Formats: sequence, structure tokens, C-alpha cells
Amino acid sequence: MKNLKDLFEHQLKDLYSAENQLVEALPKMQKNANDDKLKKAFEKHLKETEGHIKRLEEITKELGIKPTGETCKAMKGLIKEAESFLEEDTEKEVRDAGLIAEAQRVEHYEISAYGTAVRYAKELGHDDIAKKLQKTLDEEYKADDLLTEMAEDRLNRKAKS
Ligand SMILES: [Fe+2]
Repeated sequence: MKNLKDLFEHQLKDLYSAENQLVEALPKMQKNANDDKLKKAFEKHLKETEGHIKRLEEITKELGIKPTGETCKAMKGLIKEAESFLEEDTEKEVRDAGLIAEAQRVEHYEISAYGTAVRYAKELGHDDIAKKLQKTLDEEYKADDLLTEMAEDRLNRKAKS
């Protein structure tokens, strides 16, 4: 990689891999969630993630590059961690709490990656691409907020019982 353009393209491919891995993992997380709200949150984010993939395809097409060719090792690790958590014998509520924690790790990773991508796009003068990436970033923030809400809900319920 010689310059910021190369690094930007590399990071877009990395994100493309990350989002594709997530699309594979989310149905499993949804299936294992006990709480209906949490199930719905995973379902909603699956649809959003499919949109994120589409955006990355549009962006790379615009840049004249292929989105494929990278494997995001960080996402691979995060998903592996979630999968090994699901293999544990866990009480329903604890499983939900653990799934929220794993999903938030994923969101925080994506928030950091898209935040960087938006800055690089701006620096390289790709304003439309920056806007598209910002849309995804906003959705990742919202998904994370929803997970925080659900984690707090659980605490409130526990405090009441
Ligand atoms: Fe995403």
C-alpha cells in the first residue's frame, strides 16, 4: 500500500468481509435469543446489514474496484467468540445478556471501522461516498443504542423483581 487511497480501499474490502460474515452469524444469534425484543433487534440488524453490504458494493463499483479479496480477521474472532459462548450451557436470561454483550462488541468494531472510512473518504474528496458510509455508521450507532437499551431494561426488570 502506497497511499491513503490504497489503505481506504483495503479497509472497504475488510468491511465488506466483516458485513458478509455478520450476515451469516446474525440468524444464529437471533435463533438463540430468548427475549422477543432481542430476537427482533437481531432480525432488524440483519436487514440493515444486508443494506450495508449493498452500499459497499455501490461504493467499490464507483471506485472501480472489487469489494472481495479480504478476510476480516477481527470479525472472524468476534463471531468465533459468540459461537463458543453459545456452546456453553447457559440459563436463558444469561444467554440473552451474553448475546447482547457479543453483539455490542461487533457494533463497536464496526463503528470504529466506519468512522475511519468516513474520514478517509472525506480526505480523499469522495463526498458522496463519505455520506453513504455515514448512513451506515449512523445505523451501527442506533443498533448499539438499542442493545444498550435492552441491557438496561434487563437490569431494571431485575431491580423490580
Ligand atoms: Fe453493518
